[in-house]
Amino acid sequence: MIYTLESINAKTYDGNLVLLYGDEVAERVLPLNKKEIDLLRQRRSEKKDFVLVFDRLPYHLYLVSFDSEKPAPECQEMLRRCAADLLKQLEFDKVASLAVTGKGTLPEELSAFVEGLTLADYRFDRYRTKEQYHLGTVVVDSLFLKPAEFEAAQRLWNRIYWCREWVNLPVQDLNAADFADELTSIAADLKDVTCTVMDKKQIESLRMGGLLAVNRGSVDEPRFVVLEYKPAEAARKQPICLVGKGIMYDTGGLNIKPDDYMQEMKSDMAGAATMASVLFAAADNHLPVHLVALLPMTDNRPGFNAYAADDILTMYDGTTVEVVNTDAEGRLILADAIAYAARNYNPKLIVDAATLTGAAVRAISTFGIAAMQQHADNPMTMLKLVGTQVYERLVEFPMWSEYDELIKSDMADLRNCGSTPQAGTITAGKFLAHFAQEVPYIHLDIAGVAYFSKPQHYYRVGASGYGIRLLYAFMQMQDMIEK
Ligand code: BES
Ligand code: ZN
Ligand code: ZN
Repeated sequence: MIYTLESINAKTYDGNLVLLYGDEVAERVLPLNKKEIDLLRQRRSEKKDFVLVFDRLPYHLYLVSFDSEKPAPECQEMLRRCAADLLKQLEFDKVASLAVTGKGTLPEELSAFVEGLTLADYRFDRYRTKEQYHLGTVVVDSLFLKPAEFEAAQRLWNRIYWCREWVNLPVQDLNAADFADELTSIAADLKDVTCTVMDKKQIESLRMGGLLAVNRGSVDEPRFVVLEYKPAEAARKQPICLVGKGIMYDTGGLNIKPDDYMQEMKSDMAGAATMASVLFAAADNHLPVHLVALLPMTDNRPGFNAYAADDILTMYDGTTVEVVNTDAEGRLILADAIAYAARNYNPKLIVDAATLTGAAVRAISTFGIAAMQQHADNPMTMLKLVGTQVYERLVEFPMWSEYDELIKSDMADLRNCGSTPQAGTITAGKFLAHFAQEVPYIHLDIAGVAYFSKPQHYYRVGASGYGIRLLYAFMQMQDMIEK
């Protein structure tokens, strides 16, 4: 899809036009006749968010009605969803080029609508043999958006696009080495970004016992990728470390996943894809923040030499871990990366993103992120606020010390899953928090939102990129706080 900014006159525009309309005050300036206005009024008396189509042959006028009286984040989210509804109509009408403007509409409302259109237009179609419908040229009314801001938003959406591509790619075409190569080549083109890739030998010399154990059943080598974005303005600031779970495929290992539980496990590297995308977006748009993304990558398979339950691992920081279930592999590779971040970067905050537990999906379904924090009350408050604004929401789970008992082992310092099946999301977060030690730490379990098995609003089936807009907005706030 290609966007251009131009000035648009809704009354005279010669082409397919989308008109956002949120406020009755603007009724008289709508390019509608009396009958059409009556229809609009009648529909709005029942419900305010909908799309109406008027024939203006050979073109169409699409009127997107929304409720501008709702709180801003909800109103903007409704517009994202309306954009997805509109896209279905556009596909039905075989319309690919259009213009978007508004009456009684705020710039951020128009921007949210275009964001929804962009996210909804994504589909994973590189393996399709027949061409799929996509938007072509979209003219956006320049009255609403500043070119620089709109371009920055488009760069962010492009990163979301790439995150979704990576997550949707099956492991046959994106293993740990492939993903590391891909990140290396992107980083090479970005100012102030460096990429260090550690291979199996280097991971061995770092003694990352968790990452190496999970990799033992695989024919593919592991990678540990460290991306650093360090612009001159932030070079002296302590970094924020972004740790992402990079399980390229999760079979469960020897504790193999039964029935159809294995399906969609190509998405188990969504945390790594999310964190790389956030860092790249920050670099694209020159945000004045110092970021380090630490991405441990491997698949988890039951090969001949695969790690087994009862194995006791020594992690990067020396902690010993009894393996109870090889399917609780994410926390093992993350623990090494979190400890590595804490020891080597003096971070002001560590945030991780991981498709970590099925329990997170059972607790809150697919409507948000299950989050936990340790020594990071204020950043968590900020993150929740930002999450409400961009509508990538999180709910905080407790870090109560009682849960520590559940991950104590009889044989080692910790066990890799709780001694009861209860509170699976919390015991996983607790396990990880051990490795952050005193560093302020936020854990984001994105298992419910990284990949949708059914379409959800402006997401089709597949990877969502959920969390990128959240963390990007959080990075923008860092700048405001520090000023
Ligand atoms: N990758 C899975 C978690 C997951 C499940 C993500 C469903 C997305 C959708 C993770 O590695 C896993 O298998 N977790 C186990 C942990 C258990 C063995 C303690 C789980 O949640 O069942
Ligand atoms: Zn697993
Ligand atoms: Zn996993």
